[in-house]
Amino acid sequence: MKCKVIGKENTENYLFLSVETSEIINVLPGQFFMVKTEDYDFPKPFSVIFQKGKVIEFLIAVVGDLTGRLKKLKIGDFIDIRGPYGKSFIETIDKNKKYILIGGDCGSAPLMHFKNEYPELVENEYYGFRTNEIKSILDTDKLHIDEEEGISVIERIKRENPSKNTGFLVCGSLNMIKAVKNEFKGYKVYASLEARMGCGVGMCKGCPIKTKDGIKMICKDGPVFDLSEVDLEW
Ligand SMILES: Cc1cc2nc3c(=O)[nH]c(=O)nc-3n(C[C@H](O)[C@H](O)[C@H](O)COP(=O)(O)OP(=O)(O)OC[C@H]3O[C@@H](n4cnc5c(N)ncnc54)[C@H](O)[C@@H]3O)c2cc1C
Ligand code: FES
Repeated sequence: MKCKVIGKENTENYLFLSVETSEIINVLPGQFFMVKTEDYDFPKPFSVIFQKGKVIEFLIAVVGDLTGRLKKLKIGDFIDIRGPYGKSFIETIDKNKKYILIGGDCGSAPLMHFKNEYPELVENEYYGFRTNEIKSILDTDKLHIDEEEGISVIERIKRENPSKNTGFLVCGSLNMIKAVKNEFKGYKVYASLEARMGCGVGMCKGCPIKTKDGIKMICKDGPVFDLSEVDLEW
């Protein structure tokens, strides 16, 4: 579906992009779209940070070819999106718990979307970024800037000694996800996993993950998984 760019704020390394769809697409937090510019043939997955009516917003780290092209878009330009795809947080988690949300860099996007949709399920939120560059485009008092705090998000949460009844929802680098799993043993942890994706719909078999029920595809069976059911070392 073609979408019109209606808002754009960026720094050198980050982009906050607002697009308008031609019809309302309801997106559950944790689901993603395959996104591309009109001059680029390889769509790549991006979660949604906010969605209201026909407006969908993305928080994007500018790391390569596609994201560099997205950063250069102007208001009124068009992008192509396919989706939403994947299993969301709310379809996967135990809804009788409250959760601490831990986002790493732009992995914060689906968790901010979750907080917006299900505030009653959120105990606390931490959106970790290395530097304060993000502050000029992301307006929340839940940012954890490593270079300002002097400790990592995980170290900070450990010191706050969360109740064992609380669970964690995590999205970020694989290293961060592994660290949460290792540091908070005995807690329920759900994570949105990343993979390089070709099709985004389970066809190309390019994003496998080993689970207790066999090999699954991150794009179709996830990206949100209960970490007690997946082998992150596979
Ligand atoms: C379900 C899902 C949701 C995502 N949501 C977001 C989001 O909301 N915001 C956001 O900024 N990014 C998100 N990503 C990551 C995004 O898809 C990649 O950063 C994208 O491929 C960048 O495209 P590019 O052409 O600019 O850079 P590329 O040339 O594709 O990659 C640039 C660099 O990043 C590395 N890289 C790319 N993808 C991955 C990966 N999956 N794992 C490890 N390293 C990788 C490459 O090795 C390369 O060094 C998401 C990924 C998934 C799977
Ligand atoms: S990206 Fe094709 S199967 Fe997951």
